[in-house]
This record gives sequence, C-alpha cells and structure tokens, in this order.
Amino acid sequence: MFPITLFASGIEARRGSQKLISRSKLARVMRHKFDPENLAMLTDPERVEWQNPFAILQAFGLRSGMSMADVGCGSGFFSLPAAELVGDKGGVYAIDVQEAMLWALQDRLLEHRVARVLPVLSREDLIPLASDSVDFALLVNALHELDGNATIQEVRRLLREDGRFGVVDWKKEPMERGPPVEHRIAVDDARVWMVENGFEGEGVEVGPYHYGLLLSVVEKG
Ligand SMILES: C[S@@+](CC[C@H](N)C(=O)[O-])C[C@H]1O[C@@H](n2cnc3c(N)ncnc32)[C@H](O)[C@@H]1O
Repeated sequence: MFPITLFASGIEARRGSQKLISRSKLARVMRHKFDPENLAMLTDPERVEWQNPFAILQAFGLRSGMSMADVGCGSGFFSLPAAELVGDKGGVYAIDVQEAMLWALQDRLLEHRVARVLPVLSREDLIPLASDSVDFALLVNALHELDGNATIQEVRRLLREDGRFGVVDWKKEPMERGPPVEHRIAVDDARVWMVENGFEGEGVEVGPYHYGLLLSVVEKG
C-alpha cells in the first residue's frame, strides 16, 4: 500500500522554479543525496541528545490540529514526533525523493504503531500534494541536498498563506559529525537563497551543530 505516488493524479503543480530567475549560485549546484546505505545514522539513539525533534518542532510552533509536510523526511526522525504533536485532528505528509527512505519510514511507522503519517514519494520539482494544503513545512538536513530552487518553490506552493517553513541544516564549520563541510550551506547563504525564493523570517536556536530558520511566505500569489 505504501509509499504512495501521485504523479498521475492530475495535480496542477505550479512550476514556480521554472519562472524563477535566481541570482544565487546555490540555485545552480547539483548536490549529493543521502545514501540509504547509511540509514542507521539517522536513527542513532544518541542523535536525540544533540538534535531533539520534539524541542525543535515546538520551537517552530507545531501544535495540535496542524497539517504538516516533512520534506526530505528520510526514515522519519522528525515525522514520528510530529505525528504525536499534531494529534488526532492533524496529519503529517512524510515526503522524500528516494523510495528506499520511505520504505524505512514505513517500517518505523509499523514498529511504533504510528498513524497520521502518510509517506509520499516526490520528485525534485514536484511534491504531489494540493496547493495551500499545509500549515507547516519542515526541511531538516536536506537543504544542502537540494538541486536548485524547484523543491523550495514546491514548498511555497503547498503552504497556506499564513503557513510557516522550518529549515534546519548543518553549520558550515568543521565538526565531528555530519556531511563534508564543502557540501554544506552557510546560514547567510541559506537566508539569501530563501529570500530569493519568496520567504522571509528569523533564526531559531536548534542545537550545537545546526542553524534553524523559521520562515513565512512573502505574498502568496
Ligand atoms: C540527510 S537525510 C535527512 C532525513 C531527515 N530529515 C532526518 O533529519 O532524519 C536527507 C533526506 O532528504 C531527501 N531529499 C534530498 N533532496 C530532496 C528533495 N529535493 N525533495 C525531497 N527529499 C529530498 C533525501 O532523499 C534524504 O532522505
């Protein structure tokens, strides 16, 4: 039954990225995707000590009844806690471009008996969900894996007018964990990239190794 693919569902995705003329060099770089061979790293029990998903989601304002998109969900390190926070009246779309990640997520949903999380297979330029359908979108440790603007524009399309977008990624400095420094995106570059894609916002404290940005859409057209 899972993961779902909705590419043939007739959703009219606005391809904002194709219209966007971005000056940012970040928009033109092809990046590495996380290797599913390393899945165990994402659910390492020690991770919660330096990246607590409940605390981060609460700092971003996730609460009961909300509809959320976890973009680049991997095996659901954030999707499962999010399901608990949004409760019976909310829901979580767990979205990833790699099917292997969604199968790993599905195993964890079954193991932990979690409902309210719907795995969704996406493409870089298409998240097969309706426009203006989510209150909150999350992108954790995946900004540095995006190829250009397409996924960010899809997030913009999915968000309701008053929706929020929480971005968490590795600080661009040497440290004992995380991807190579040269693959990372510095927080100032991330901010510029977001502004170029029609977002504005502020920094949020999210732990020792990461920066957080809480963004809203500037003029939803
Ligand atoms: C390092 S993993 C992080 C997974 C999860 N967010 C976490 O924190 O445990 C990055 C994930 O983003 C996914 N990804 C990369 N680019 C993506 C895109 N454009 N759209 C959706 N998922 C993407 C990868 O397939 C991978 O599963």
